[in-house]
Amino acid sequence: MDKIRIRGGNRLDGVIPIAGAKNAALPLLTASLLTDDTLTLSNLPDVADIKTMIQLLQHHGVAVQETAKDDGSRGPVSLCAGPVNDTTAPYDLVRRMRASILVLAPLVARFGAARVSLPGGCAIGTRPVDLHLKALTQLGANIELSEGYIEATAPNGLTGANIVFPFVSVGATENILMGACLARGETVLSNAAREPEITDLARCLLAMGARIEGIGTDTLRIQGVDHLTGAEHSVVPDRIEAGTYAMAAAITGGRIELAGIRRGLLEAALDKLSQAGVRITETEIGIEVSAEPGGIIGVDVMTEPFPGFPTDLQAQMMALMTVANGASMITESIFENRFMHVPELARMGADINVHGASAMVRGVPRLKGAEVMATDLRASSSLVLAALAAEGETMIGRVYHLDRGYERIVRKLAACGADIARLSDRGPI
Ligand code: EPZ
Repeated sequence: MDKIRIRGGNRLDGVIPIAGAKNAALPLLTASLLTDDTLTLSNLPDVADIKTMIQLLQHHGVAVQETAKDDGSRGPVSLCAGPVNDTTAPYDLVRRMRASILVLAPLVARFGAARVSLPGGCAIGTRPVDLHLKALTQLGANIELSEGYIEATAPNGLTGANIVFPFVSVGATENILMGACLARGETVLSNAAREPEITDLARCLLAMGARIEGIGTDTLRIQGVDHLTGAEHSVVPDRIEAGTYAMAAAITGGRIELAGIRRGLLEAALDKLSQAGVRITETEIGIEVSAEPGGIIGVDVMTEPFPGFPTDLQAQMMALMTVANGASMITESIFENRFMHVPELARMGADINVHGASAMVRGVPRLKGAEVMATDLRASSSLVLAALAAEGETMIGRVYHLDRGYERIVRKLAACGADIARLSDRGPI
């Protein structure tokens, strides 16, 4: 199993190109099921979760044509769901990636039936899908759970409805938005999530002929249509990748220019970093982030749905706060168990006390390298940040978590001067 070795202390300085957003690409890929025309997606990130979703779609029978750019990175992907012949999403694929649940509503809307494995929980929480199922039922689907599978049918198609989500859910909003595009009549989604990845999905659906109003707000109004056409769409830049590397600049007292990102995609995170003493400057090609060594101030953070501080940057912010001047109270309001990085950061000398949904972080002068273990995607990136600033060598195990959502992270950080290498059992890669 691969490990990542980091020898900390180098101030990072350079430019990092920001990839397309994994969390936009995943629903965009499932949107291909809504039409028998060809949907072509560009700027897809080259990460494991995208490969898993493509595998799932190919299992359903979607014809997928992938291309490569001259530098070997992923080029545009064309998907055609004309030949779909299997509406079952099997457990062995779904258990590897919860976002597989996003095939549910598109399959029911287009083919009148779907049999999707319940995704099961993951390291950060039980992550049920009850909001997806309740809303799909309101659109007229008949849903039963049997042997760990969701059996959904709508032989006469879906019918528009007024749906009020009891709390904000990114995935449920995406699933039902896609289903509603092919439902008869009007659907109104209230208390809908407003993440930029949802706005990106809605824009792609518009290009496919969907009729959606209220994009970017918490109320989406969809007029169902008989069929959708193909389209070409470029995936929005990844605000979480950008925020992660912004914090890499901050924690090493360095300077990184994030190419291709727009400030509006991660305003709350950048505002919080500014409060913590980080300099943020918009440039011709993106955003420059810099900090003075030892110049970070402890600030309080609470995660919230967009446009609030993103839960997917909470672990990375905590790593930064472990070496801040002063204390920081970090409150995780979205997931019930998203502090798995705390004991690993503590192994590196961090001073963190967890009380329920909040963690009190007291800054220490320096972390120390150690052997640590990644537990989930964003926790693993917080360990990378901590190791970049720590004294000595850190070895991070289970780096397959990182591969799910960070495209070429070793290469991107090494290009900015990090002493970082990926080691397999057979030596450096
Ligand atoms: C999406 O997950 C993202 N994943 C997550 O990113 C992100 O952390 C999350 O949204 C919140 O922003 C993708 O987009 C693929 P939710 P999702 O539905 O849709 C509860 C990463 O690191 N809930 O907004 O699963 C749920 O348990 C990943 O890239 C229900 O109770 O998140 C959670 O506590 C991690 N019932 C809260 O709502 C439901 O039916 C928010 O979940 C649905 C959700």
